[in-house]
Amino acid sequence: MTGNNTMTRPQLDPVPATDPRDRGGPLQPMLIVRGLKKHFPIRGGVLNQTIGHVRAVDGVSFTVQKGETLGIVGESGCGKSTLARLLMHLIRHDEGEVIFDGDPVSETQGISLRDLRRSLQMVFQDSSSSLNPRKSIVNSIAYGPWVHGVPKIESQRRAQDLLRKVGLRPEQFGLRFPHELSGGQKQRVNIARALALEPRMLILDEAVSALDKSVEAQILNLLRSLKKHFNLTYVFISHDLNVVRYISDRVLVMYLGEVVEIGPVDDIYQGPKHPYTMALLRSRLSPDPDDRLDDAPITGDPPNPINPPSGCRFHTRCPFTEDVCKAVAPSLGTEEAGPHRVACHMHDAASGHSRAGTVLPQTRHQPAAAAAGL
Ligand SMILES: Nc1ncnc2c1ncn2[C@@H]1O[C@H](COP(=O)(O)OP(=O)(O)O)[C@@H](O)[C@H]1O
Ligand code: SF4
Ligand SMILES: [Mg+2]
Repeated sequence: MTGNNTMTRPQLDPVPATDPRDRGGPLQPMLIVRGLKKHFPIRGGVLNQTIGHVRAVDGVSFTVQKGETLGIVGESGCGKSTLARLLMHLIRHDEGEVIFDGDPVSETQGISLRDLRRSLQMVFQDSSSSLNPRKSIVNSIAYGPWVHGVPKIESQRRAQDLLRKVGLRPEQFGLRFPHELSGGQKQRVNIARALALEPRMLILDEAVSALDKSVEAQILNLLRSLKKHFNLTYVFISHDLNVVRYISDRVLVMYLGEVVEIGPVDDIYQGPKHPYTMALLRSRLSPDPDDRLDDAPITGDPPNPINPPSGCRFHTRCPFTEDVCKAVAPSLGTEEAGPHRVACHMHDAASGHSRAGTVLPQTRHQPAAAAAGL
């Protein structure tokens, strides 16, 4: 069964003008993240003591405005999923804070975990393991509202309506079980399930990464329509830069647990400032044959997050490394510095880096970075 021939057009109504759940007003960011850290302990030795920490998320700060899509990119292992789980409060952070529509997220104050789990939902990459194999599709979607106190009949009616909204006819799919669906259809069901508690924000962690390209495009378009229809805010995590470009308003680039660059999507893709972002952009597969590169764009594996490099964590792979890079960690700066910010000494006139203040020449292929071996 393919994802194409059984699909209906999602049935969506016009966008609601205002959202009565909007407590902090339209200018209050949906999410504020400040100095978030998660260091996983590693145990070993005869006494099974803590012998080190994986610095998975190491001082991450950003905001997400209402109605926007923030894309998060970075190589595998850079901390994207850990960050997502911290935002959902599925794991506890060691340091920092998360503020949801003006309310702190913690066990003791601000928004309760129950309200947070209603307002903030997550869609994962693995569409199969997210669904209970013994529950029919309609029951899987209705389960969330039902445990949150919505009567059974109303929960089922809501589930059928959501199936229609994600483009699956309830009379055709409602009573099927997950193994009877294609990957794309399962991901549509997962999206419907995430929407069943009427959340305000979705965190999509590699949500389209396991799908065929044609199905991926359908799901991305569905996500765009649903966002408008339900007045949603997205954090969209992916290692695929083309997908992130298509769906995001702003993009945050992570490297070894830190944010190295953040900015509006066009600024990042047309004028990347961090050598790592340049390398990532050069490594993506372009659908345009004239835009493909034969040379390896980035060399070496990321360093171990248990013992990350001193100073700038990218210095072991960066062709512009100087002594200051090994000694001093560059700062991303605060939001007052503008929408496009980068943590690199070359972009800090006072850093002492010999290229500080000079702008790297750029074209579609960023030849300065290419010449330097990135
Ligand atoms: N529960 C855990 N215990 C120890 N290390 C972990 C745990 N979860 C993730 N990590 C480590 O944290 C780092 C970041 O992982 P992850 O957030 O999954 O990255 P990404 O999603 O970007 O691939 C990796 O080095 C990973 O091995
Ligand atoms: S701070 Fe130095 S090592 Fe880090 S990205 Fe900039 S030039 Fe490269
Ligand atoms: Mg991940």
